[in-house]
Amino acid sequence: MTEPIRNVPPATGSEAVLAPLTEAAIFLVLTVDAGAEQAVRELLADVSGLRRSVGFRIPDGDLTCVVGLGSELWDRLLGPPRPAGLHPFSGFAGARHTAVATTGDLLFHIRAHRLDLCFELAQRLGSRLLGYAQVVDEVHGFKSFDERDLLGFVDGTENPEGAAALEAVMIGDDDPEFVGGSYVVVQRYVHDLDAWDALPVAEQERAIGRTKLSDIELADDVKPANSHLALNTIVDDRGVQQQIMRFNMPFGRVGTREFGTYFIGYARTPEVIEQMLTNMFIGNPPGNYDRILDFSTAVTGNLFFVPTAEFLDDLSPAAPTELTTAQPADAQTPVASANAQSSAEPDAGDGSLNIGSLREVPS
Ligand code: HEM
Repeated sequence: MTEPIRNVPPATGSEAVLAPLTEAAIFLVLTVDAGAEQAVRELLADVSGLRRSVGFRIPDGDLTCVVGLGSELWDRLLGPPRPAGLHPFSGFAGARHTAVATTGDLLFHIRAHRLDLCFELAQRLGSRLLGYAQVVDEVHGFKSFDERDLLGFVDGTENPEGAAALEAVMIGDDDPEFVGGSYVVVQRYVHDLDAWDALPVAEQERAIGRTKLSDIELADDVKPANSHLALNTIVDDRGVQQQIMRFNMPFGRVGTREFGTYFIGYARTPEVIEQMLTNMFIGNPPGNYDRILDFSTAVTGNLFFVPTAEFLDDLSPAAPTELTTAQPADAQTPVASANAQSSAEPDAGDGSLNIGSLREVPS
């Protein structure tokens, strides 16, 4: 009997955003040198192929690579039209704590069940960009047991699932030219673990808003207004909760006592994440900032647009002025787009979600 062919979704671009949790991840943030735009365009078009070259040999490793493009790099590489929500990360300065904005043009979020796969791909991307871009932040994250972060709490429990997850991260017909794309905010947090560990567990639980051992949410009348959960549960004007997808990873070095959490949050609009950061750093109401920040310092901060794999694959070496992007023939909600075939596109037959609508057409 022949083996059924594994229907694997694309493992690069925004389609890979919702890849299942893995044991390892590498986060690379780079700045692109002046004059290196052409080389970077060519590399971006090759990311899918490089991922295949590394990942195909260990299919169970589930190697994925999400690529993010910063606001300034978008203009240098692509020009108009721009994703509606793409802008430089502005940072958020509260009275006590600041979400810094740091440099960064490109993000590679590389995930796999094995660090060697992540490392091999990171190394290949790095080699291709040698002389064209500088790595300004590199974090090798690991999954801790019980899905806990280095504060000792289970991290990721309230991430949306299924259709709600897709709805949370995928741009819909509110930005028709970029349906299927996404946005991502990254921040590297460094913890003062000595101070945190000196807090009684009950106080730690009040800072997070959940119990430590059993990961149960504290009741509303017990959960403090400055807890991490209270400030990150946000609703829109109609009372609908606004969700994001987080794939935080612990990282650290015992020798230098550097212990941290790499925060990475995806959303269909950066506004949701920026509202959360406003609540955390400035406070809601102002002054009522997130208690977690008394023990965790954000040392980086960036915002990127995440194009579909198809968009990246089709990047030609042409100049920005020669590029146009196709209007999707049937702009739909992200969930609908993912489940239905675009009338403009034949079945790719590759198991993709068919949400890539950013295909370039020759001018
Ligand atoms: C030091 C960095 C951070 C740590 C250690 C951390 C840890 C946690 C933990 C332990 C939870 C509870 C379990 C869960 O639902 O995941 C949580 C929830 C959450 N965090 Fe964070 N987090 C950090 C930064 C952030 C940032 C920067 C944001 C947003 C910009 C954020 C957004 C959220 C959201 C939306 C929830 C779920 C709230 C809910 O619906 O219950 N976190 N985080």
